Formats: sequence, C-alpha cells, structure tokens
Amino acid sequence: MTAQSGQPQLPWWETGIIYQIYPLTFADGNGDGVGDLRGIIDRLDYLNDGNPNSVSSLGIDAIWLSPIYRSPMVDSTYDVSDYTDIWPTFGTLDEFDELLAAAHQRGIKVILDLVINHSSSEHPWFVESASSRDNPKADWYLWQDPVPGQAYPNNWLSYFGGPGWTYCPDREQFYYHTFHKNQPDLNWQNPDLRAAVYDVIRFWLDRGVDGFRLDASSAYSKDPQFRHNPMKYGATSQNNYKNYHHHYNKNLPANHQIIREIRALLDSYGERALIGETFIDNQMYDSISFYGAKGDELHLPLEFEFPLCAWFPGDLQRAIEKKERLTPTFAQPNYFLDNHDIPRHLSRWVECSLCIDPVTIARAAAALLLTVRGTPILYYGQELGMVDNDDIPQDRLRDQVIVISDTDDTPPSRDGSRTPMQWDASAQAGFSFGKQVEPWLPVHANYKDLNVEAELADPDSILSFYRRLIRLRRNSPALLQGSWRSLLHYPLEYLAYLREHEDETLLVVINFSYEQPFDCDDAIAPDGWEVLLSTDQPEGQTVALPKTLQPFEVSIYQHSGATQ
Ligand code: GLC
Repeated sequence: MTAQSGQPQLPWWETGIIYQIYPLTFADGNGDGVGDLRGIIDRLDYLNDGNPNSVSSLGIDAIWLSPIYRSPMVDSTYDVSDYTDIWPTFGTLDEFDELLAAAHQRGIKVILDLVINHSSSEHPWFVESASSRDNPKADWYLWQDPVPGQAYPNNWLSYFGGPGWTYCPDREQFYYHTFHKNQPDLNWQNPDLRAAVYDVIRFWLDRGVDGFRLDASSAYSKDPQFRHNPMKYGATSQNNYKNYHHHYNKNLPANHQIIREIRALLDSYGERALIGETFIDNQMYDSISFYGAKGDELHLPLEFEFPLCAWFPGDLQRAIEKKERLTPTFAQPNYFLDNHDIPRHLSRWVECSLCIDPVTIARAAAALLLTVRGTPILYYGQELGMVDNDDIPQDRLRDQVIVISDTDDTPPSRDGSRTPMQWDASAQAGFSFGKQVEPWLPVHANYKDLNVEAELADPDSILSFYRRLIRLRRNSPALLQGSWRSLLHYPLEYLAYLREHEDETLLVVINFSYEQPFDCDDAIAPDGWEVLLSTDQPEGQTVALPKTLQPFEVSIYQHSGATQ
C-alpha cells in the first residue's frame, strides 16, 4: 500500500504508473539481435533507479512484460508452448529471478502477460489432446465433430481472419481457435485444465511476481452448445470477425466466474494486481463489467475505446466522461494510448491533427494520460515520442499471423509499433549495447535524434516532459486521488479540467489548437493559481489565469484555497 498524507492507503496499481515492455525489442543484453531478460536487467535503472530525485530515470512503478515463455513464435510470443519456462532466446528462469530481484530492489513491481485463452499448438497439452479422442487431455481443447452439409461445426471465425475451426485428421474433428490455427483455445469447462492453469499461476506467484495481464480475458468461455453467432445488422467490416456479435464465444457469464477464481487465487497471495485485455468490440461498458459487481474480478480492465478516439478534445473528453460515469465507485479507471497491437498514438494522430509538429501532440497526450483520473499505462518508447516504422521490408516482417481477407495481398502487420527501443545514437540505436547486429525488427530511421541519451540531455525533449509530469504526479494528492471534473461541455479546441482533492486543486489546460481565448475562467477563481508545469507560463509563480491560450499550450496550475 502507498501512504498519502492522512488518506486511506491505496494499492500500488492505483497510485503507480505501469510501463509495458515488449521484450523482443526492448534491450538485447547478449548481442544476438533479439531482446532478452539480461537486456531488461541492464536497463532497469533507466526505468527507475530507486532514487526519487534521479536525473536519469523515468520513474515508473511497475513493468508489464509481454510474454517471455517458451514459444514457437508464430504470434510473436503470444503462442506459448511451455507456461513455466522462459523462451531460451530471452534467457533462463534464473535470469528471471534475477530480474525480479533487481526490479524489486528498485521498487519496481513486475507483471507478467498470461496467455491462457489459448496455447500454442506445439504445447504438449495440445499435442496429447490432438493425438486421439480418448487420451487424458482429450477434452482440454474445444473439439467438435464435422457437421454434414456444413464446412465447419459452426460459424465462429478467427479474429485474425478466416474460419475459427481447423480440421485435425488424427481425431477426425475440428478444434476452435479465436486467433491463429496454431493457437488452439483451451477448454475452460474442463476441471483438470483449469487446475493445470491455476498451477501455472501459482508457479509465478510463488516466484514473487506482482500480478498478471490476462491476454484476451473475455474469450475463455464458450457456449457449451456451440451455437452460431448472429450477424450484426448492416455490418461491413473488412475483418469479417467484426461483422458478428460474439454472443456465444466471448464475454459469457461463465467467463466472469473464471476471472473471479483467478482473482481469488491472486488475493490469497496478498497485494497482487490483476489486469486484463477485455477484447470485446472496443466497447467500454462491456470492459467495465470486468471489475465484477462486487469488485472481485479485474483490478484494471483494459479497454480500447479511449485510445482509439480521434485526436479531438470533444471525443477524448466524452470517452473520459463515459469512463467516469461507468466505473464503479470502488474501482480504479486506467488509461493507455499505445500497446503492441495498435499503431503508436503519434502515428495514429498526426494525420488527423491540426498541427504538423508531433512534439506538440506528444506533450499534450502525455499531459492527458498522466493527469486524468486513473492508472496510466505507458508503452516502451512512447516517452521518447517514438512513432511507427512504416518502412519495414516485407521480408523483415515478423508479425504475419493476420490474414483478414483472402483478397488482401498485404495483410496488416503490427510490427510498425514494435521496433527496437531507441537508447542512443550508436549502431542500431544502442538496442544491442553498441553491437552491430541485425535486430529482431529494423530500428526506426529517426533514432539518431530521438533516443534516451539525447532526450535526457535536452530539457525540452518529450522524455524530459514525461519525467516532469511523472514527478509532479507522484507528489500530487489531487492527481493521485482527486476527483476529475471538466470545465467545458464537448470542447472543440482545448481541454480544461480540475482534479480536486481536500489538500489541493489542480487545473489542467491542454490546447489542441492555435492561439485562442481561454473561456472557462468564469467558472473558477480567476487568480491565485501557481503554475506547476507549463509549456508557456512562468513556472513556480502564482498568477491570474490568462485570457488567451498559446498555440498547443499545456499548463498545470495548482490552487490551495477555494477555486469557485
Ligand atoms: C492479444 C495480444 C495480441 C495477440 C492475441 C493472441 O490480443 O495482445 O498481441 O496476438 O492476443 O494471443
């Protein structure tokens, strides 16, 4: 628990900042071109060296590691062939223990990605299950007989494109896969399978991990009768999967029971965090149901409605207001902009923005993410202003699982947002600590200017801005625990909101546009505001609120008295 002055203690996942590491491309410690645990250990000080006044650390509180288990790498680590061992290219279990200890020593919590909707088709569980209809694990996956007159047992599709069913000649049956055919879905109705997965969870909790991010956690349960999914009215998505309601293969009541069981298991270990990718048509209200009616499911359900908003104040504010309305009072919201499945926000938003300088968007987005009410989740490199590498040659692509449509010659790849972390201006952006080896994915061409070393040295860099915001957040009761209230209704040009707490009130103003009048000072005290952080106002001084906002200004003001 984190103690705040005179306030109830809050768990670390409510006050802390989580940082997602994509291990394949974060840091390559052994110089073979692929990221690894040694690389992460060697770079921990950058994330948090344990000194709150550090001049070289970002200052995050927890790392979420995308999967590190043994995998045949069909879906870039999200196809697991052994849940209790490390992929040898990443390192060993001993190195994992070393990473855990080194992280804990610096006050960093460690969250593992747990991919338990499906395993790899090379997992021994599946190999055995597929070998006959009467082996001990015959029922550990979702098997169905062919249906006369039908190509597949039902109309369930794969999220990655094509049918969700693949035929297995040895069993003369089909198995279901929500994703790639090499990622067969586990049968959560089978008690032995469930027990085996819970043993996996215990294995990592016993080692000392601080929580999990559950992959595709809304898809565990399937309809026992395998009924067809109804088609959505007027649906026209190129990804045919999205043209169906997933009433029978996602978000079933039984799915919530499974999450409750996993949560109870974590709770038996003390303060452990349960995060989950809710993966339901980007609908925030469905995601929010994953807190559980009694707060007994996920601590932080990840939803995509906010990150996939347009870069427009009104839309973003609507998503925040919606989350404020829907989130139960006992629960903690969370916000992220980027992850390994979507283009980075600067790549998504630069084109639809009024401004041409991505630095202004990066600053505004950072301020929003770190001052809204909720746990912020950063994706590696976002703090540098990393953008997608859209020039990866076809023969260097790693992510080739998505087929989406038979007519599409160049299926979408998620590799653009997964390129190596940019550490410095040396060979391959310092990803392999100066070694000139070909990295897992090509480094973005902008790495000479946009890297940790250069940005730490530049007080005006995006990284310096993130670092300042993170420090401000850590010491602000209003940002950690205060309520959130907008001063505007569906704003067109800028956001202005309050974070209110009995000890302080903060006003956050983020201008998405050029110079314009600042209209909401009627609603709040016109003066007595201390400028805590600003791209344009004199920091540290107590001022009257300005009548005009500067182009793309970001300002955070503090008031210690009454503001209305
Ligand atoms: C989740 C992961 C994604 C992966 C998929 C299948 O959506 O975030 O990267 O491809 O699950 O495991």
